[in-house]
Amino acid sequence: MHAEIVVLPGDGIGPEVTTAAVSVLHAVAARHGHRFTFTGHDIGGIAIDRHGTPLPDETLDACRRADAVLLGAVGGPKWSDPNAAVRPEQGLLALRRGLGLYANLRPVQPHPATLGAAPIKPHLLAGVDLLVVRELTGGIYFGDKTRTADAASDLCRYTVAEIERVVRRACTLARERRRHVTSVDKANVLETSRLWRDVASRVAREEFPDVTLEHQLVDSMAMHLLSKPRAYDVIVTENMFGDILTDEASMLAGSMGLLPSASLGDGAPGGDTGRTTTVGLYEPIHGSAPDIAGRGIANPIGAILSGALLLRHSLGLEDEAACIERAVAAALDAGAFTADLAGEQAARDTRAVADAVIAQLEDACHVADLRD
Ligand code: IPM
Ligand code: MN
Repeated sequence: MHAEIVVLPGDGIGPEVTTAAVSVLHAVAARHGHRFTFTGHDIGGIAIDRHGTPLPDETLDACRRADAVLLGAVGGPKWSDPNAAVRPEQGLLALRRGLGLYANLRPVQPHPATLGAAPIKPHLLAGVDLLVVRELTGGIYFGDKTRTADAASDLCRYTVAEIERVVRRACTLARERRRHVTSVDKANVLETSRLWRDVASRVAREEFPDVTLEHQLVDSMAMHLLSKPRAYDVIVTENMFGDILTDEASMLAGSMGLLPSASLGDGAPGGDTGRTTTVGLYEPIHGSAPDIAGRGIANPIGAILSGALLLRHSLGLEDEAACIERAVAAALDAGAFTADLAGEQAARDTRAVADAVIAQLEDACHVADLRD
C-alpha cells in the first residue's frame, strides 16, 4: 500500500518522539512491502514563531490531503504568557475541529513490565483494559469565552447530534470488546450533562441493545478509576472530563509517556486512492515536556503506539498495527525503559527504545505473517 502521512512534530519533545515513531513505521513498511511517505509541517509554538499562527493554512491543507496525520506535542513556556494573543494549543484545537475529529480514543492497558512504575498497587492493575472515548470538538473547550477586568466565562454547550455521534462510536467500539460502556457526566449539577445522559441512554437503548450502558458522575469516576480500574471497559465522556480522566488513567499504565491516542471523524480507512472523508490524527496523550526537551530521553512509546493506531484506524492495516503493539510489549518485557520507567535500572534514551522496538519486529511480525 502507498500512504501519505503528514507529520506534525510540534514543540518540546514532540520532534524527538515523532522521529522515533516514524522510524518504527518505516521499519514496518519495509517488512510488509508498503510505501509510506512522511511530510513534515509546522503546528503549535514553532508555527507561531515561523508563520505567526499556531495552525498555518498550509498545515491544515496538507492534513486534509493526507491519509493520516501523526502529531508530537504542542506548547511550552516560551508561548505560555497568560495574556498572549495566540497560543500553541489553539493550533491543536483548530486542527481537531477543522478535521472534524470528534472521537478521541485513548486506550489504557497497563503492561506487566511497567506495573512497578505505577503509583497504584499492582494487584489492582493486572488485567486492566480500558478504552476512553473522549468527545473532542465540543463542550467548554469550544464555547464562547468572555473576559473583563473582574470576571471571565467559558460557555459549555453540547448539541444532541454531537452527543449521539460520539456515544454511537463508543458503543460500536464496545461491540469489539466486552460490550460495556460507562458514560461519565456531572448530571447532578450541569444541564449539558443531563442532556448527555438522556441522549446516551436513548442511543444505547434504541441502537445497541446488546451493549450495557451505565452512568457515573465524574467525581466518583475519578475515584473508581484508581480503586477498581478493572471494572471498566469503554468509558465515554465529554471533552474536558475526558482530558482530565485520561491523565489520571495514564498513571494506571505507569507513565504518561506510554499512552497513544487516535482522533477520528467519520470515514473509512484511506491509503492508496481510498482517502478517508475525514483524516485521522494520532498523537501521544502526553504534552511537550519542556523540562526534558532536546535531551533525547523522552519516552517514545506513546508516539510509537499512536503509529500503530494510525495503521489500524486510518490505513486498515490491522496485522501491521498488532505487530507494532507486540514489538512494544516485547521491548518492555526486555527492559527497554526510558528514565520515566527505569526506576533503579539504567535508563535508555529515546532512540535506543525505538531501536529496541524495531529489533522486536522480526519476531512480532512473524506471528502476524503466520496468521495470514
Ligand atoms: C491533550 C492536551 C490538549 C487538550 C491541550 C494541549 C490543548 O492536554 O491532548 O490532552 O487539552 O486536549
Ligand atoms: Mn490533556
